[in-house]
Amino acid sequence: MSSNAPIGVFDSGIGGLTVVKEIMNQIPQESIIYFGDTARLPYGSKSQETIVTYTRQIIRFLMGKGVKVIVVACNTASALALETVKTEINIPILGVVKPGAKVAADTTRNGKIGIIATEGTIYSGIYNNYINNINSQVQIFGKPCPLLVPLVEEGLIDDPITTEMVRRYTKDLLEIDIDTLVLGCTHYPLLRKTIQRVVGEQITLVNPAYETARKLKEVLMQNRLENNSTMKPNHQFFVSDGAEKFKHFANTILSCEVVETKDVNIESY
Ligand code: DGL
Repeated sequence: MSSNAPIGVFDSGIGGLTVVKEIMNQIPQESIIYFGDTARLPYGSKSQETIVTYTRQIIRFLMGKGVKVIVVACNTASALALETVKTEINIPILGVVKPGAKVAADTTRNGKIGIIATEGTIYSGIYNNYINNINSQVQIFGKPCPLLVPLVEEGLIDDPITTEMVRRYTKDLLEIDIDTLVLGCTHYPLLRKTIQRVVGEQITLVNPAYETARKLKEVLMQNRLENNSTMKPNHQFFVSDGAEKFKHFANTILSCEVVETKDVNIESY
C-alpha cells in the first residue's frame, strides 16, 4: 500500500465533514476521499443488520478507490458495524466512538456525563462500555435525539425549531447535573453554538472529531502510511444522492473549496 494513497472517510451525510475538517487541520498533507450516504440517511433509526450492509458497500466503494485507511466518521456505523467489518478488511479502520469516549472520561470532574446521539448509538450502549472501561465510577446518561440529523441536513442550523428541539432533548440531562456532554453524532458539532447556548457555559461539550484525527495520525505513523510527498492533496467528494446540495453545504463547512461532488450508485457495490 502506497503512503501517497488517500484516506477514506464516510458518514450518512454531511456530518462526517466535521471529522474531515479536523483531519485537514491536523494532517493537511493527506488526500481524502469522502462518501456521504445521503440517499439512505438517517442511519440512526435503522437496524444493525442494515447498517452493517451499508457499511460493507461503502467500504467496497472506498477500497475500489485505493484508500490506505478508513475513518468511520459516523457514530452510528462506528457503534453498530465497526467491530464486524474490521475483521473483513486488510487495511486499518477506525471509528469516532472510542476516541470520543476517551475525551469524555478525561473531561468530567463530577463523574456525570451526558451523551446525545442517534437512537442506534444510544441503544447500543457503546459509549457506556468504553467510558466505564476507562473509569467504572463515571455515570453516563444517554439521550437519543432523532430529529437533530434531519434538521441539520435541511440546513436549519441556526433556527428556533432546532433550538427548541435541543432544549427538549437536553432538559432531563440538565436536571441530572451533568458537567460534560458528548456530541455523539457527527452532525451535532454543526449545532455546537445552539447546544452550548441551551445547556450553558458550565457544561463542557465534547466533539470526538479532534481526538479521532489525532488517533488517525497515530495509526498512519504506526503503519508507516504518512504521506510524505510535497504534492498538494487531492480531495474528492461522493454522495449517493443530491450532489449539488451536498457541495453547497461542504463549502460552508470546510475551509478548502469543494469544486465537485459526484453521485454514486452505492447499492451496486
Ligand atoms: N452522523 C451520523 C452519526 O454520527 C449518522 C446520523 C444519522 O444518519 O442518523 O451517528
